[in-house]
Amino acid sequence: MEFRKLHPTFGVEVLGVDVGRPLDAERFARIRGAFEEHGLLLFRGQDLDDETQVRFSERFGPLEKTFSQNPAGGTLFARQSNLDIRTGETIPLEDPRMIYQRANMLWHSDSSFKRVPSLCSLLSARIVPPEGGNTDFADMRAAYDALPQATKDRLEGLVAEHSIAHSRALVCPELLTEHQKTVEAPPMPQLMVRTNPVTGRKALFIGAHCARVVGWPEDEGRAFVRHLMETAIRPEFCYSHQWREGDLIVWDNRSLLHKATPYDSVRYKRLMQRTTVAGDGPTVMQ
Ligand code: OGA
Ligand code: MN
Repeated sequence: MEFRKLHPTFGVEVLGVDVGRPLDAERFARIRGAFEEHGLLLFRGQDLDDETQVRFSERFGPLEKTFSQNPAGGTLFARQSNLDIRTGETIPLEDPRMIYQRANMLWHSDSSFKRVPSLCSLLSARIVPPEGGNTDFADMRAAYDALPQATKDRLEGLVAEHSIAHSRALVCPELLTEHQKTVEAPPMPQLMVRTNPVTGRKALFIGAHCARVVGWPEDEGRAFVRHLMETAIRPEFCYSHQWREGDLIVWDNRSLLHKATPYDSVRYKRLMQRTTVAGDGPTVMQ
């Protein structure tokens, strides 16, 4: 097993591992260690199907079920695709399933709108368009480190409310039903800075679901989050991944933000399957 750096501050490619084959505890411990340290692992040339993806994902912890509005809602898979899974036909641009996926193009951390936010996501490239459709990642540990001390002090203990109604409203206000907004996925409090329990490194925890700062006036909170976002996604903290079929990326949702980028979904096919590993508890005690 070998590791090759992808970016100066985060991300490594892992060579010499077939994730579909049994991995003993010692080999997996090296993978887990690299995940904690680098925040993103790329495995190329993997011949994954849903079952092998689930089995490897479960080595990181129990999996989440996907939010009901995703095209694969209620299963273990979040599907980022323009293909109707039953017919294999391209889904039209104005179909709600495509509109729902548009919010992926905003910087976010998967499941930060849940009481227990996710640990990590595993995204495997099954069908890749010949151009476009990169996924971009940003290192929120490096972003935190770069903040002025006064901002770090302000962030100490600060809590923000995350909500999927907020992020989806940015692309289409009618996308979610009242029941989904208030019963299935009401706003949830999250610490704005998270500390990795293994490395002790701090990371900004913001993104598209982050709607307001608890205890602050609405506009002041929004302006602060916007200002933090601008720092967080400076080019030197970002890595853009150009997918090849057979790629699998595992990323740490506690320490990175990510977003989808456009591709021509009328001309080209794209099928990405994501499994999401649940976190080990809420970030804020209530
Ligand atoms: C995701 C996601 C980005 C992409 O699967 O969580 O944001 O490029 N995907 O499909
Ligand atoms: Mn995502």
